[in-house]
Amino acid sequence: MEHEVKRLEEDLQKDIEKASDASDIEALRIKYLGRKSPLAELFSQIPSLSTEEKKIWGKNLNILKQKITTLIDEKLSGFEGKEEEIDLTFPSRPVERGSRHVISVVLQKICDIFAHLGFVVIEGPEIEDEWHNFTALNFPSDHPSRDAFDTFYLDLKEGKKGKQLLRCHTSPSQIRVMQKNKPPFAVISPGRVYRPDEVDATHSFMFHQVEGFAVGQDSNFAHLKGVLFYFARQFFSPDVSLRFRPHFFPFTEPSAEVDISCIICGQGKNKKKTTRCSVCKGKGWLEVLGCGMIHPNVLEACGIDSKKYQGFAFGMGIERMAMLKYGVSDIRLFCENDVKFLEQFNL
Ligand code: PHE
Repeated sequence: MEHEVKRLEEDLQKDIEKASDASDIEALRIKYLGRKSPLAELFSQIPSLSTEEKKIWGKNLNILKQKITTLIDEKLSGFEGKEEEIDLTFPSRPVERGSRHVISVVLQKICDIFAHLGFVVIEGPEIEDEWHNFTALNFPSDHPSRDAFDTFYLDLKEGKKGKQLLRCHTSPSQIRVMQKNKPPFAVISPGRVYRPDEVDATHSFMFHQVEGFAVGQDSNFAHLKGVLFYFARQFFSPDVSLRFRPHFFPFTEPSAEVDISCIICGQGKNKKKTTRCSVCKGKGWLEVLGCGMIHPNVLEACGIDSKKYQGFAFGMGIERMAMLKYGVSDIRLFCENDVKFLEQFNL
């Protein structure tokens, strides 16, 4: 028995040293003082001892029990002291809050401005067919942008409306709305578009556009200009100027590209030659969107009488708008998940 008591004491010493928190100690209390503990085992041997030995071992085991209890309690009170050091009133670390991506914020801003003018917001599919993406939009069958190298065609069965593809602009939304609705209407359609462009500071294989269009009996170019002026002044600044340059799109006639006066140097507006601006490269103007009067062929392709109705359309890149508004120099920053960059736009 003497030998067993010694072993028990040694084991307990080691276990107590190893214990690192209050729950370890509680486990030790069960191990060393519980009903199945070595100590209980020793106590159970007492009845088989001689009267003399019973006296000695009864006393010894009680002393041992006391010793175990004291060691365990002492170690536990050491931990309790430490736990008391935790200040429960100390303010917690701030919870990191997520926020909308800058592209979503800008997209929402743009939609809000047009919604204020009465435009309805709709979304078209990202997987389109050739007919909606090109044919109905008056792209000639040999137009280079229909080429397999200029468009992401999908490896799906060819349907009645041609091959399926990832839309390269939001203009097919015009077709989907015009096929289903009777004019007048004014619609804004945001979403992702895809082009197999080499990725660099200003190009990406995927970006976002907002398409806007309105059809009615007398919708005209002056309305288009008025709407775009209103938009640019709300979105950029109240003193921004616009410039319309003649351009070509198959689906609008006449067509124009629109520039805003450089929001950094303002030269386009002031016509003053100051130092060469790095944003507009000294030109004073920044290209922001394409627009025009909807081509009669497009209206007819959708079953709208082009003698009775006319309309205007415009399309702009959201990333480009965000880059100009916030002075971002590289489009790749928007999709690199760099929290430091994105946090700046928790607006
Ligand atoms: N779809 C054209 C583009 O992606 C933009 C545009 C839309 C131009 C509507 C005119 C009218 O470049």
